[in-house]
Amino acid sequence: MTIQPNSLEARDKAYHLHSYTNARALERDGALVIERGEGIYVYDNAGKQYVEGMAGLWSVGVGFGESRLVEAAAKQMAKLPYYHTFTARTHSPSVELAEKLIQMAPVPMSKAYFTNSGSEANDTAMKIVWYRSNALGKPDKKKIISRTKGYHGVTIASASLTGLPNNHRSFDLPLARVLHTSCPHYRAFKTEGETEAQFVERCAKDLEDLILKEGPDTVAAFIGEPVMGAGGVIVPPAGYWEAIQKVLKKYDVLFIADEVICGFGRTGEMFGTTTFDLQPDMITLSKQISSSYQPISALLINEAVYQPLADESAKIGTFGHGVTAAGHPVAAAVALENIRIIEERDLVGNVRTLSPRFLARLKAIGENPLVIETRGVGLIGAFELAPREGFAAGQLGPKLFSHLMEEGVISRAIGDSMAFCPPMIITQEQVDDMFDKVERGLDKFARELTA
Ligand SMILES: Cc1ncc(COP(=O)(O)O)c(C=O)c1O
Repeated sequence: MTIQPNSLEARDKAYHLHSYTNARALERDGALVIERGEGIYVYDNAGKQYVEGMAGLWSVGVGFGESRLVEAAAKQMAKLPYYHTFTARTHSPSVELAEKLIQMAPVPMSKAYFTNSGSEANDTAMKIVWYRSNALGKPDKKKIISRTKGYHGVTIASASLTGLPNNHRSFDLPLARVLHTSCPHYRAFKTEGETEAQFVERCAKDLEDLILKEGPDTVAAFIGEPVMGAGGVIVPPAGYWEAIQKVLKKYDVLFIADEVICGFGRTGEMFGTTTFDLQPDMITLSKQISSSYQPISALLINEAVYQPLADESAKIGTFGHGVTAAGHPVAAAVALENIRIIEERDLVGNVRTLSPRFLARLKAIGENPLVIETRGVGLIGAFELAPREGFAAGQLGPKLFSHLMEEGVISRAIGDSMAFCPPMIITQEQVDDMFDKVERGLDKFARELTA
């Protein structure tokens, strides 16, 4: 497509550095301009409709164009457009949201702490883990274990926790004191003849061996997504979380559940913690907390985390942490209304109702000889393209992505896996329509490959 001078695309190329984009390719090709959204659909500036099969960035749970969220924002903007929560100030949206989150938490939690992104929530979790260890007189207990292919964000701390090479390479990361253990993707990482149960046992042993090698007195916390998202939608095998949590308990290692994608219904329960029977000490939330209509994230901490933190802040005189827009009244008001919508419309029930259809359609795609595996739970899933002669790993996914875009479906190519995570308001007809389009795109891709 030629880019017209002074068009949005031309100005974007001239002035805008994009996240997760090859800057040189953008100079050549420009960006796709998305102009508006309605329900599960978005429209580009040429008027083309796309099924937003990824709900933006795994986040627009209630769909686009939800007027109740617009009204909640406008109302709060008019009443109190900004106030902070530093130095013992507060306002009703942040009070109500904290109360709501603690009441709906899947395991007993004590306090909610607000930030603006998933990265900041995880960054804060890491700082609180360190602060707490110092409070407990355990200054050496600071290491945090994450997993290969885990995704926890991009700040210096959270990118260190992320277990993906492109978040470390050339950024001089990860930080010291962040360690990575094995990824629970059975098909990709099983050894010859290893059963799923043996694989689970090995994952738990890898974690235990790492803790023992580093010294249990130096390992403070473990962080994991109930289902890995950006690592390729990796649903852990049966028994995995039980085995991992046993090791964490044994060595007094805190568990941080990163619910930034799973939270607020994605897996068919309000939280992934419930789906996988987790007992975390801290939970990070973002994305579907406000359906991304406003930037907001939250960290929930239990009493075992809160009490030493409170003692330390009393000793020092302050908890020296916080960002200007934390618990922003407009974002908090939107989050509250968004959670109300999720509850009133029983969107978690909708995920549970539609999940069998969603997973069956994915599984049917798995019959295609181009596909090696399908994975999913609730309304999050992926299919992975089989390795193919003449293509390096990770080259097939982006090519298929372009075909799906032509068909009018936005997915996400994660290497050679195609991820799907549609808005939770989707209907069965729309699930079918999305996968009909995916199948057409896949057929065209197959013809191209064999031409
Ligand atoms: C599981 C998980 N944690 C953390 C993050 C980081 O969130 P943010 O992009 O808001 O910083 C993401 C973002 O995709 C995520 O998927």
